[in-house]
Amino acid sequence: MNPFEKTVSRLADTLVLLDEVDSTNEYCKSDEIKGDVVVKARRQLAGRGRMGRRFYSDEGGFYISYCFIPRDKIPAERFLPITGMCASVVLDAVKNTCGISPKIKWTNDILLDERKICGILTESVISGGGDMEKLIIGIGINTNQGREAFSELCNIASSIYVLSGEKVNEEELLLSLSQGIFRVYDALCTGDEELMRYHVENYRDNCMTIGREVSILSPHLCGGEDPRVVFEKDPRRFPTARAVDIDEAFGLVLQCPDGQKKTVTFGEVSVR
Ligand code: BTN
Repeated sequence: MNPFEKTVSRLADTLVLLDEVDSTNEYCKSDEIKGDVVVKARRQLAGRGRMGRRFYSDEGGFYISYCFIPRDKIPAERFLPITGMCASVVLDAVKNTCGISPKIKWTNDILLDERKICGILTESVISGGGDMEKLIIGIGINTNQGREAFSELCNIASSIYVLSGEKVNEEELLLSLSQGIFRVYDALCTGDEELMRYHVENYRDNCMTIGREVSILSPHLCGGEDPRVVFEKDPRRFPTARAVDIDEAFGLVLQCPDGQKKTVTFGEVSVR
């Protein structure tokens, strides 16, 4: 079987297509899901983003979660690079199927013309012994929504259709994306580091954050409020630095004003 046929067959065994669901990630979290599953919905009523935010999920977008239940005991920390690798997979899938050249904004947003066209939310259930019990990779891609879907957010987010003028073929996108995600998951399970090296390089080559002045949105400066909201009100509250590189574990390397280099491994930055 060639890789394409393998992907089709794995999808045929696992794909659940829904018209409507609260959140494809929540669907996967249910205790009733006891095996690998790929859930794709036409719309989500309570789509979730990072940091407890909402992810607008009206019809026209592409909302999918990949749920994996490792057969063997694998330490959860082995999956730490998953989000960075998935951002690189999404980038390649969107490039190959839509003929566009998006960029990655650290940590895991995909941007086209500086507007967000995709977000990724990775969640996991970890055993008391530290092994991965369930890994959920949720991906929301703004594919075919019209301009009206982004009226209030039009400077921040958009769809591939609005920005490129071409409708996205969702079947092709599903196949290309699934092939990439399955490969990444399998490689992390077996400890194959070559694929990780490819994705780090691809991420670095396509990361729009490098070379930019960024504000580090540390939650501890926000007294429980959403750092993004606090930043909009008072950007001076947050330290700034120049992003200079992506390290071998998808960390963002910063050149700080005091001359020191510092690497941030999770959280959020705002690009100036
Ligand atoms: C973010 O940008 O903060 C992450 C957004 C992730 C959205 C996807 S859509 C499919 C899956 N289901 C959810 O509820 N969220 C993720």
